[in-house]
This record gives sequence, C-alpha cells and structure tokens, in this order.
Amino acid sequence: MKKTVLVSGGAGFIGSHVTVELAQAGYNVVIADNFSNCDRTNYNGVCEILGEKLPLVEMDFCDAAAVERLFSEYKIDACIHFAAYKAVGESVADPLKYYGNNLKSFLNILEQARKRGLNVLFSSSATVYGEPEKLPVTEQSPRQEATSPYGNTKQMCEDFLRDCVAAYDGVKGIALRYFNPIGAHPSALIGELPRGVPNNLVPFITQTAIGKRECLSIFGNDYPTPDGTCQRDYIDIVDLAKAHVCAVARMLDGKMKKPYEIFNIGTGRPVSVMELVTAFEKVNNLKLNYKFAPRRAGDVTAIWADPTLANEELGWKAERSVEDTLAAAWAWEKKLAGK
Ligand code: UD1
Repeated sequence: MKKTVLVSGGAGFIGSHVTVELAQAGYNVVIADNFSNCDRTNYNGVCEILGEKLPLVEMDFCDAAAVERLFSEYKIDACIHFAAYKAVGESVADPLKYYGNNLKSFLNILEQARKRGLNVLFSSSATVYGEPEKLPVTEQSPRQEATSPYGNTKQMCEDFLRDCVAAYDGVKGIALRYFNPIGAHPSALIGELPRGVPNNLVPFITQTAIGKRECLSIFGNDYPTPDGTCQRDYIDIVDLAKAHVCAVARMLDGKMKKPYEIFNIGTGRPVSVMELVTAFEKVNNLKLNYKFAPRRAGDVTAIWADPTLANEELGWKAERSVEDTLAAAWAWEKKLAGK
C-alpha cells in the first residue's frame, strides 16, 4: 500500500520540489496551500513534471476546522509542514503576523498529530544557530537567541514538536535545519518565485542578470572571511528535497533512533557571496552588474553545516555542484522571462 504524505505549503519553492521527489519515490502526495505567497505556477509545474494532477486542497492551516476536515478526508501517514511566512525583515516590522500565522498553523497540525498519532516533519532553519562560535555547526551546536520573530518561530516550532513527541503516544517528529536552499528543478518547470524585490541572494542575482533589477548590492566586504564577504552553505533545492524523502522513509519505516530527531541539511562547503557571484558569471557566461554596499542588519558572518549526521543516518548526501545549481537557477529565470 502506498503511503500518503501531506505537504502543507506544497505550492511554494521548497514544497513543490519536495512534492516531486516524494511522488517519484512512490508516495501519494496531498498538497495543501492557501496561495498567500505564491501563485499556481509551481503547482502546475509539479503536475507537468509528474504527468498527473495531484490532489490540491486550497486552505489555511490557521483554520482549525479546515485542518480537521483535511485530516478526516485523507488518511495521512506523514505530514511535512512548509506553510509559513518567511521574510525576516517583514517579521521584525510585523511580529504578530508571523507569530499568529506560523505558530497557529503548526499548532493546528500538532493537534491532529495528538489525535491521530502522526509523523511530522518540520522545516526548520540554520537561523536557529545564530552567529556560531565554532564552524561547521553540528546538531549539537547551541541554538542562540533568535534575532527576528521569523527565526523565533522556527525555534518555537521545533520546541512544540519536541514537546508533543515527548507527551503524546504515536507522535514522531523530525526537524530538518536547512542551510541556504537555492536553484531550481532541472526541468525549469518549478523554481523560486519571490514576490516583489527578492530578499535572498540567488533570486536577486538572477533577476539582475535578466535585467529586472539594475544592480546587485553585495552586503558587506569587510567581514572577517577570506574575501571579506559573508559565507554560507548553499544547498541545491533538489538535493534538499531528496533529504525529505529519506526523512519520511525513516519515519514511516520505523528506522528512527529517537522519536524526535534533528538533522542539518547542508553541503558542508562554505561559499562566499563573492565566490557565488563569480561562479554564476562563469557557469552562465555573463557579467553581472554588482556593487559593494554596507552590511545588512542581522546578517551573520559565516555559517556552514556539518552534515555528517544526515549523511550517516538518513543515507543522504548533497550531490550537485554549486555551478550546476546556479545554471538551473538561471535556466528557471530565463524560462520565467520567456527567453
Ligand atoms: C536568510 C535568513 C534566514 C532564512 C533564509 C531563507 C536572514 C538574516 N536570514 O538567510 O533566516 O532561513 O534566508 O533562505 O535574513 N546578500 C547580498 N545581497 C543581496 C541579498 C543577500 O549580498 O541582495 C548576501 C547576504 O548578506 C548573505 C548572503 O547573501 O551574506 C545570503 O543571503 P540570503 O540569501 O538572504 O540568506 P541568509 O541571510 O543567509
């Protein structure tokens, strides 16, 4: 019997890629999304890649009655929760929007988990480590006080899951801490679709290259790093999606070593902003208009993962090179522009 996985926020950037990998690995997938921060492009792309129309429930996870109906209608074996707001700056300007939405929606899922004994996978973030004292970060590295309400919701949701797993029979949980997901599906049918001016580096780069933005600002070139620009662990979106398939299988096949587990999902390879820009130019054979600008408030100097635990326990490893990933991101941007 095929198992069924619910993907909340399945029409978004990460959710759509995860949906494809799950379906291709043989799971039934139910997508639920309220389209508050995306349109149908990725949903349509997912269906095109898979050659089938996946079940789509248009709903808001803050609506407890709607969540109850969803879980009554479908027999869900595991739930992956992506449906959340994700703009750091906006969360600082409007914390109640973030606390209201990101916490309430997850609590409604956990209520169903308590009632039905569910496997829950939460999409967490390397942001929980703050500015690490030691690099690379392992899952044992201390979490640091969040610097934004967005980051705080990630920490709080991790704790909600941990506590529910400890308290309620049959509830199991995995939190995946993503480093910096970038790129797009090799088909160029799904990818990142930021609304308005992108906050994240790669969509800003591709929009600058296509001419939608005039110039990329590199935030800070006086950091204590080899070239003065910040270092991150950029992880290919398809590699990242595959980690979810491994984590879901681990939960559903009874392979977890503890009922609540945490894994870093990264490459283990630090890449600076300057290195990323140069790699983008080289692999796509173009020149990017960029300038150095002051540091962006809230940015950490450097963070990258020690992914050993995920490598060994999930049997997962990041495979794509940063060049391949940047080529995919560029192919997606060109496709969007009809080029
Ligand atoms: C950010 C969030 C993080 C979130 C992640 C989601 C902050 C502090 N952190 O990570 O919580 O989980 O996005 O993907 O916002 N940069 C530029 N110019 C730009 C944009 C970015 O130089 O126009 C630089 C940044 O200074 C940073 C790097 O590029 O050094 C990556 O930035 P970004 O893509 O926004 O990711 P993070 O800030 O690492």
